[in-house]
Amino acid sequence: FSAVDVIRAKRDGARLTDEQVDWVVDAYTRGAVADEQMAALAMAILLNGMTTAETVRWTEAMVASGEVLDLRVDRPTVDKHSTGGVGDKITLPLAPLVAACGAAVPQLSGRGLGHTGGTLDKLESIPGWRARLTTDEITRQLADVGAVVCAATEGLAPADRKLYALRDVTGTVESIPLIASSIMSKKIAEGASALVLDVKVGSGAFMKTAADARALAEAMVGIGSARGVRVSALLTDMSVPLGRAVGNAVEVAESVEVLRGGGPPDVVELTVALAREMLSLAGLSDVDPAAVLASGAAYEVWARMIRAQGGDPDAALPEPRHVHVVPAPATGVLTGLDALGVGVAAWRLGAGRARKEDSVQAAAGVLCLAKPGDRVVAGEPLLELHTDTAEAVEGALAALEGAVEVGDSAAARGSLVLDVVR
Ligand code: URA
Repeated sequence: FSAVDVIRAKRDGARLTDEQVDWVVDAYTRGAVADEQMAALAMAILLNGMTTAETVRWTEAMVASGEVLDLRVDRPTVDKHSTGGVGDKITLPLAPLVAACGAAVPQLSGRGLGHTGGTLDKLESIPGWRARLTTDEITRQLADVGAVVCAATEGLAPADRKLYALRDVTGTVESIPLIASSIMSKKIAEGASALVLDVKVGSGAFMKTAADARALAEAMVGIGSARGVRVSALLTDMSVPLGRAVGNAVEVAESVEVLRGGGPPDVVELTVALAREMLSLAGLSDVDPAAVLASGAAYEVWARMIRAQGGDPDAALPEPRHVHVVPAPATGVLTGLDALGVGVAAWRLGAGRARKEDSVQAAAGVLCLAKPGDRVVAGEPLLELHTDTAEAVEGALAALEGAVEVGDSAAARGSLVLDVVR
């Protein structure tokens, strides 16, 4: 095989053969295909697409580039993956809730890049908590506690790690077959037998339209069924931040409120909806996650899960050095609070990173004191900007320009779950 032949074939709109796919993914992982060649191929894929069969083969080749874990324990396992949003802390209450309902939840998670937050970055604001576990530790904790949220081990789908970093700097992230194969290769390599996808739609998401989100969901469900993984996808709204807290420690605090039976209604709604879908795939649809959440059992699992990874669930969370209050611009009803604007503001305040090597500030983020539908009064506090670096406030305020809308009345908020793909 020659890399140039494979690039030319895809450039000219051909379907790559199984052998071409296997070869190019393996050769790229080994360094025999150069970054510039893979970048050209990724761009040709972005422009000309891949068939379902090609995408499944591409995924399998990425799985085969590394180790495959076996995380089976004595109860059904089920995992969840979100395509990334603003204020999306759902994994934090969800994993312990589903474990408290009787399933085992291995959640190998990532860090934030750009304006979308990362689950590991949020959890690392808990003093002592550790993201890196060995495969043995993961299996033991899964059996003992029922829930593990930790970093993906190095050996999982190395082809994806290399390719994702390349796509990030070559304008080739936004390809449905490449996103679908990237996500599914990691989930298949982690040994998931059932998976619920939370595919975000709206300004704060990768997929801005419901049609694109549906196409991505269908691609991932298709890869799952070709590989014997039970997959379903919820398409959920990401035009407004989830909950009131966007950042790291602030999102942990809000998740704990949910686990203690309180918290913002949208976070509770989505946590329970995803839990129901996960329990259904795990064969536990007779358990009511709303009742288990109210019983406090999910909080108990949370505390054990945090302790098992070295964290102190009772420790005080980091506080920001600076809090800048943004007042409501007018009196009326909040009609808009743009997820992208708030996400970029939190990112600039230090909650996210501009480059992979950067570290994040545990205490940085945005607190939304009102959500669309709430009454606001001109000059009264609307948003709190939290940061350790006062100079970051200006950039955050610029990101928020146009993000807040106040009107006379807001349309009633519909369900966060827009559609389900099974
Ligand atoms: N998340 C991933 O893991 N991969 C992508 O390609 C996009 C989002």
